[in-house]
Amino acid sequence: MKKILLAVTGASGMPYAFSLAKALHEIKELELHLLVSHNAKDVIEKESTESLEALLAYAHTNYDITDFASAPSSGSWLHDGMIICPCSMASLASISHGCQTNLIHRAADVCLKERRKLLIVVRETPFQLIHVQNMQNLILAGASIMPACPSFYNQPKTIDEMVTQFTGRILDQVGIENTLTKRWK
Ligand SMILES: Cc1cc2nc3c(=O)[nH]c(=O)nc-3n(C[C@H](O)[C@H](O)[C@H](O)COP(=O)(O)O)c2cc1C
Repeated sequence: MKKILLAVTGASGMPYAFSLAKALHEIKELELHLLVSHNAKDVIEKESTESLEALLAYAHTNYDITDFASAPSSGSWLHDGMIICPCSMASLASISHGCQTNLIHRAADVCLKERRKLLIVVRETPFQLIHVQNMQNLILAGASIMPACPSFYNQPKTIDEMVTQFTGRILDQVGIENTLTKRWK
């Protein structure tokens, strides 16, 4: 059984988080382990048409991000990769500087030290120098950074199509086969 850890933080881009959680939920032989920051809950309320409860329902296991005694806190708990989507600049900075102030930052730190896949879907615009330096720091430490930029070469007709295409690209990054992305031939 594959295990994917998905962390949702308080940046704009909740449609990506919902789309990703749904796609991961629908994959047989895969457990979705979910971490939602306090600020993410606030952003979900402000920008999403879907509820926090709907997001949590996609998960095999939900974690309290103040609980450092739960499984994702330990390198001995094996999983197949962590995605942070969307990732705020605040969480990016905490992870970049090793500040393990909540379970999301701790679990990301564990991925880096254990050399496991860590994919960070950042969302802010424009970037200032500290954001870029934090991204550089994390790439050097082994993470992958994927800006939440939808593509247009697939000629999306709706927001949903844009989100779905991008969700497929995220799954590609963590090695999960999918047919969500229209592939360039
Ligand atoms: C509606 C809303 C949208 C936000 N969008 C962003 C964003 O796109 N990027 C970002 O870095 N912060 C954004 N923020 C600010 C973060 O929520 C804030 O920095 C928070 O401390 C992040 O905490 P977290 O990473 O623990 O969730 C937004 C806040 C609100 C209320």
